[in-house]
This record gives sequence, structure tokens and C-alpha cells, in this order.
Amino acid sequence: MPAFPETRLRRTRHADWSRRLVRETKLTPNDLVWPLFVIAGDRVRQPIASLPGVERLSIDLIVDAARQAEQLGIPAIALFPYTDPALRREDGREGLNNDNLVCRATRAVKAAKLNVGVILDVALDPYTSHGHDGLIRDGDIDNDATVEVLAQQAVLQAQAGADILAPSDMMDGRVGAIRAALEDGGHTQTQILSYAAKYASAFYGPFRDAVGSGDLLKGDKRSYQMDPANATEALREVALDIEEGADMVMVKPGGAYLDIVQLIASNFDVPTLAYQVSGEYAMIEAARQKGWIDGDAAMMESLLAFKRAGASAVFTYYAPKVATLLNTNP
Ligand code: PBG
Repeated sequence: MPAFPETRLRRTRHADWSRRLVRETKLTPNDLVWPLFVIAGDRVRQPIASLPGVERLSIDLIVDAARQAEQLGIPAIALFPYTDPALRREDGREGLNNDNLVCRATRAVKAAKLNVGVILDVALDPYTSHGHDGLIRDGDIDNDATVEVLAQQAVLQAQAGADILAPSDMMDGRVGAIRAALEDGGHTQTQILSYAAKYASAFYGPFRDAVGSGDLLKGDKRSYQMDPANATEALREVALDIEEGADMVMVKPGGAYLDIVQLIASNFDVPTLAYQVSGEYAMIEAARQKGWIDGDAAMMESLLAFKRAGASAVFTYYAPKVATLLNTNP
């Protein structure tokens, strides 16, 4: 490249039409996954204090949201349950109830025959009385016992019609066990999106409020979720999960971990997704409420950054808002 003044990078940056012409990264509704919180009842909408603008929805309204997703061109929704505290047990058995909220919601959405995928988390934390993702034995999260339950949960969710199962528990060997159980059960087309690089993060707080496990959680999740200091280990996690049968992998949280997204996307031939988690959303919304930032601009910029890092798609609570904006002003 010749030096200045032959090269002036501001030439292509000068006019709007030119900036559009040379733009390297594009965000479209096809890049979005919309996470939704399911609650019991009918016509119920319940605000979540730490996630302004996000509501827990009863199943009838979840179906409406899925219809909205289809209209907006959002390819998939992810369902998370707010489980009645009375149904939460030490062993998280509600996760294996065929009539639990996410199974019923999935059946309801699938019955509407929309062109929208349904993603379900495979993990026990919305169902346990202690808020952990696995079974506790002698004060520790028992890996192998948990994996057995997760494989059963996965089959149940596939039977309910889930298109993509997303193990978010970070137990070792769970992807292989889930894949084998799905094949045994004849669910050969059910995809696995593994939360392969999921970090023990402070950014999940509002999500735990949303599913009602925040106040219950005893201790932390550092014995199974990754250390935020590690990057090489994320490559090992991804390699193992692909080996075990993952169709796609996820990095979580997203914004503070875009180096990990880039590392994985450039080292593996597998779709790499990322999750703009609840705390990231809440921070932007809090600053917007204070009038300290232009909330919509920050929202768009934060999501474009995921694409620039190499993410195939992004889980974001902003999905409907962003898709609406992109559809009116692509
Ligand atoms: C639970 C799960 C969590 C999130 C998605 N699935 C929380 C956790 O691991 O404690 C977080 C999502 C968010 O913060 O938006 N397995």
C-alpha cells in the first residue's frame, strides 16, 4: 500500500453511499436468535426488573411471539422456563416432566407450523432447588450422574418437538451422551448446539432472576463453567464437542469474549454462535435509561461486533427490536 497522500483511507469513508459500498460486515434478521422466558398461566405477561423490556410470557403468548419471529425473519427462538419454586427439587426432576413448561410451549409452537426453529437448553438449573446445573453429591456437582439425566432430558425435549438442543451445563461428555441417546430414540435430525465455551461469568445475573434461580443459587458455578482467564481451553472444549457430535457451538457470554468467538470461528469448520447475555443487555438498557448513551445505536453496534468477530448468529434479547429496525432500514 502506498503511503500518504497516495493513500487516504478517508476517501472511501467520506460519503454515506461509499461507506455502504465498502462495508465488510452485515447484520440481518437471519443472524438472530430470540430467547424467551415461559411462565405458567394464560395471557400472562410479567416484567423482569433487571431486564427492562423483557417479559415472562405464558404459552399462548409464546406462540404469538414465535409468529412475530417468523414475520420478522428471525430464524429461531430459545425457550427458558420460570419454574414455580414449589416444583423445584434437589434432583431437578421437573426437567424430566413431559408436561413441564418448555415441553408444552414447544408443542404449542410446533403445532402452529411456523418457519421458526425451537431451541431448548439442556440443563437442570431452572428445576433444581439449589440453582445448579447438575446433581449434587457430597457437596460436588456429580458429572457422570448429571450426564445421564441430561441425556434423558434431551430425548424428552426432542420428543416434544425441539429442533435444536443446547446443552448449557458444561458437564464433561454430555454432548456424546446426548447424541447417542438421540440416535437411539430415532431423533436423527435433532441438532445439538453445544454451549462449548461457557464461562463462569458475572453477566448472567438478570437471567437467573428471569428463571427464578438467582436467589436459590448456593455458591458459584466455577467447578464446571470455564475460567474467564482461559482461551486455549476453549479450543479443547470445542474440539471435544465436535468429536462428540455437536452440530454448532456457542460462546457465552459474548461481548466480553469476542476474542474467543474469533479464535473458534477461525480454527473450526463449525457454525459458531454467541450469546449476548442478560447482563450485557441490562448494562446497555441501564445506560439508555440514564440518558448516558444512545441505546439503539449501542444495541446495533454491539451486535454488529459479534458478526465482525465471526459469529454465525447471536442470541439476543434485542432480537425483535433489531429485526424490526433492520427490516425498515436494512
Ligand atoms: C443455564 C443458563 C444460563 C444462561 C443460559 N442458560 C445461566 C447460568 O449458567 O447460570 C445465561 C443467559 C443469560 O445470562 O442471558 N444453564
